[in-house]
Parts: sequence; C-alpha cells; structure tokens
Amino acid sequence: MHAISIISIIIGLTPIFGWLLLRRWYFQIVDQSHLQVRRQDGQTVPLRNPKLLLGNLVEVYQADNRLAAYHSFHEQLGEIVQIFWMWRHQISITNLPMARHILVGNQKNYQKFRPNIIIQKLYGTSVLTNNGVAWQRQRSLMQSLFTPQRVAQFYGTFVTCAQELAEKWRSQINATVGPVHHNIYPDCNALFLDIIGRSALGTDFRALQGDVDDTLADIRFILKQSNHPLHQFTTWWQYLPLPQNRQLAQTFQRIDQFLYKLIQQRRVALQSQPCSPPENLLDLLLQATQLTETDLQPFTDREIRDNLFAIIVNGYESVATSVTFTLALLARHPELLEQVQQEVDQFFQEHSVISSYLPQLPTLRAAIVESLRLYPPMAGLQRVSLQPDIVEGWTIPSNQVIGIPLHPLHLNSDYYGSDPDRFQPQRYLDLRQATGDEKARGCPLRTFLNQPQAQAEQLPLTFGDGARRCLGETFALHEMTIVLAILLHQFTFTVQAGDEAVMELGKFGLFISMVPKDAVNLTIGLRQPPS
Ligand code: HEM
Repeated sequence: MHAISIISIIIGLTPIFGWLLLRRWYFQIVDQSHLQVRRQDGQTVPLRNPKLLLGNLVEVYQADNRLAAYHSFHEQLGEIVQIFWMWRHQISITNLPMARHILVGNQKNYQKFRPNIIIQKLYGTSVLTNNGVAWQRQRSLMQSLFTPQRVAQFYGTFVTCAQELAEKWRSQINATVGPVHHNIYPDCNALFLDIIGRSALGTDFRALQGDVDDTLADIRFILKQSNHPLHQFTTWWQYLPLPQNRQLAQTFQRIDQFLYKLIQQRRVALQSQPCSPPENLLDLLLQATQLTETDLQPFTDREIRDNLFAIIVNGYESVATSVTFTLALLARHPELLEQVQQEVDQFFQEHSVISSYLPQLPTLRAAIVESLRLYPPMAGLQRVSLQPDIVEGWTIPSNQVIGIPLHPLHLNSDYYGSDPDRFQPQRYLDLRQATGDEKARGCPLRTFLNQPQAQAEQLPLTFGDGARRCLGETFALHEMTIVLAILLHQFTFTVQAGDEAVMELGKFGLFISMVPKDAVNLTIGLRQPPS
C-alpha cells in the first residue's frame, strides 16, 4: 500500500519535474547564447522576453501584421537585437556599417545559412545554397548567364509576355466598357512565371491564361510544403508516413523526371548542332564552360537541375512583388506617374519596339529602385559566422546566425534620409545630377541608375551585397523596366478610397519572402498615348 502511494506520487509529480527540467534546459540555452554576444564594455545584446520553447515566435505569428511585429523588436531595442525562434536564435541587425562588414568587409567569415530540409531538397547543390569552393565554381560559371548582353537575349520574351498581360487587361476593360478595378498581384505573378518558364526552360507555363501546368503545380506544391512549420524546425517530420509526405516524395520524383529528360534532350540537341545559339538559361548552363572559356568542371545534370530550380523559384515571385508595388506606388503619386508616362511615351514615339538595348527612362528606373527600397521582396539576408569576429564593437562568436532584415534597415533614417518611408525616386535622380553621368561599373544597381562608385552607400540592399549578391539582379531590373514601360504606356492606374498596399512577411519560410498582405487593388483604364 505504502509503495503504491509512493509510485502514484512520483507519477503525479513527473509532469511537474518534466516541466521544470524543460524550463531549465530552455532558459539555459537562452542565457548562455545571450552572454556570448556582447560589447567590449560588457553590455549584452538586447533581447525581448522569449517564451518557454516558442521564444519570440509567438509575438510575430500572433500579430496582425508579422512584418510590423518584427519591426517592433528593433524600434524597442535598437539596431542589434537577439531573437529566439523556438530554441534557435539569431542576431538581427539594422545597422548599415555592421551589415556591410558582414556582407562585404569580412565576407569570407560568413557563410549562407542552411535553409529548411525541403528547400535543401529543392535547391540541392545549387549556387544559392552552396558555400566555399563549390559555390565559387558555380558562381564563376553562372556569372556569364546574367551579363547585360545575355539578358538582352530575353527582351523578346519580356515584351511578348507583357503584351499578353496587356491584351488580357484590354479585353477585360472592353468587356466591362470601362476601367476595371482589381487585384493586380495574381496577374503580375502569372506574368513573371510565364517569363521565367520561357526564359529558363523554353516552357510555357500558361499561367497568364489561367491553365494549370503540371510542372508549375508541382513547384507550387513543393513551395507550399516548404512553408510548413514542422519542416522548418525538424528534419524527421518528412519521414513520417503521412499522405502529404508521400505526395511530396512523388512530386519531387515527377518534377525531377521532367527536368532530367529536358536536360538530356537539350544536351543532345546542342551536341548535334554545336553552332546553334543557346535558346534559354538551360542551354546557357549546359554551355557555361564554353561561354566563360574556363577550365572549370562543367555542370553535371544534377547541378543543372538544382540551379534551374534556384533560378525559377527566385526569378518570379520577387519580381512580381516589386512590379505590383511599383505600380501601386505610382498610382498613389499621380504627378510622378505622369512624369514616368511622358518619359515612356517619348521613348515609344522614337522606337517602335524594345529589342536589343534597355530604354534609358531615368525616372522609371529611379521609381523601380525606390520601390525596391520601400518594399524589398526578400525579407532579409542570413549568414552564419565561421570564426569569432568583432563587428562595430560587438563580439560575435563562431557559429552565430545573423539576420539582416531589409525592410527595417531601409526605413532607418540614419541612412535613408529624414523621411525614409516616403516614396522619393528623386533621391536617385539628384545623385545623378550632382555627380554627372560617369559610367558606373561593377554594381548592377549603380549601372542601372548610371551612378558612380561613390554612391553605393545610398542604395538599398535589396539584392544583397558582396560576393553573394543576387545573380539575377540585371535580369530582374531589365524585365521590370520593360514590363512596366509597356504597361504604363497603354494603361492608366488609379487608386480608390480604401485601396491599400501593405507588405507582409511570408509565413515560416524563415522569413525569406515578403508578399502583399492583402489584395493590391488598382483601377486600370485604357490610355490614349500620343502617337
Ligand atoms: C526583384 C527581384 C529580385 C530580388 C529582390 C532578389 C534578391 C536576392 C537576394 C537578396 C539574394 C541573396 C543575397 C544574399 O544572401 O546575400 C539573391 C540571390 C540570388 N538570386 Fe535574386 N533576387 C531577385 C531576382 C532574381 C532573379 C530574376 C533571378 C534569376 C533569374 C535570381 C537569382 C538569384 C540567385 C541564383 C541567387 C543566389 C546567388 C548566390 O548565392 O551566389 N534573383 N537574390
């Protein structure tokens, strides 16, 4: 009897002991990691009250707007803060000199952070996820795919797809016998999916027509699964015999079969006709060693498959988000919209088509860059330190995850003027005039704005910086300019009372993407541009 009551007491107390042990384990992790990042004067990195097991996750995910909740860490605690996502923690930095030290100054000490298990399966060994010598080789080979001359090869596709969207809008306007009022984001998304499908694979996803292409459906399913919180925080969940996991494995199998077959077909076609020009990015990947005239090892089929995914997945949503917000910003600033439309009209009066060189259109280009500053489609940059480092007086231990959230950084008035949340494309035009039109070199954003070296500090970090800067930056800037020029030439864009354009952090994809929070509604009407 006595033994039974002792056992029942022990059983009764087990959950309490378990809870106490869990608490001790969790807050020990918090305390230890907290002490490791400190200033030379002993001050530790600010931290906001992580909750048992969940850390700060709950504050962000319960908030009405996750982006606003993220901002509040920095507003409350300053330019460097520690944030706990369950038991993982990171330092979040909105200080530009610190960011540049990590991305450029001492970039060799900072590697790309490993993405979740599904994203790793998707991108495999691609340039996006690799580090060290393997990354260096891929980057050197891929650089030649994205030079301005190579990107110009795709202008025809940019123009055709933009015209297809224009046609769609035109028939909707004709059908309603007047302007249409609708959410432009899904259309922009479909447009850039079609562009990347044709440019990367020579495949028409038919997203603008609303058809569901099988490959596209598979990519979308994988991306949706990658956002699942359990894939974010565990590696074992994928092995459970669940219907979604089975479906995921089948989807990967199907899409791999499709891609490997396509790679094989193009390899054979290019070998049988060695002088035929490359038709798409897949061809360019197959010919990368010839294009760069290097003795580096050519890409294997596996690497081509991985890099195609990196290009496709990175190459549409980001651009769609940017074009959506650029149109919304212009619609909210009618004087600027008029100025851009006059510029575009003048171009089309002098040129019937956009074929081999990018229209100058300085105001439109400045508007695009300013929109990329205010609405950066990638939420942030992430790195892990290899060795301990001292960054602006802060000791960073090895193996420290560091996040650089772009939206809060771009709204920091220390770097982007006293009114950083105002849409002011003029800031880039003023810089151009102040410094003359010297040819800018090296940085695609400076080249795009025709700015000299010295102005790097005033440009947004939307495409990253240093050696791991976005590979598709020139491709993105050129397609955005061409698409916007065509749409702005043919349509009027206005907003109605209550129309909003608010940005939100993508869910659980480790905050990789930013998307419109709700519909981005604009009123679109037909324009009569001067002929
Ligand atoms: C507005 C559009 C885009 C934005 C804002 C953007 C932004 C970025 C950012 C922030 C990074 C990571 C930099 C880092 O971690 O330091 C990146 C990397 C990359 N992007 Fe983009 N991107 C865009 C469009 C594109 C397009 C159109 C392509 C391909 C056609 C592309 C291909 C890549 C690749 C391959 C990398 C990996 C580079 C490396 O790690 O060496 N991106 N991009």
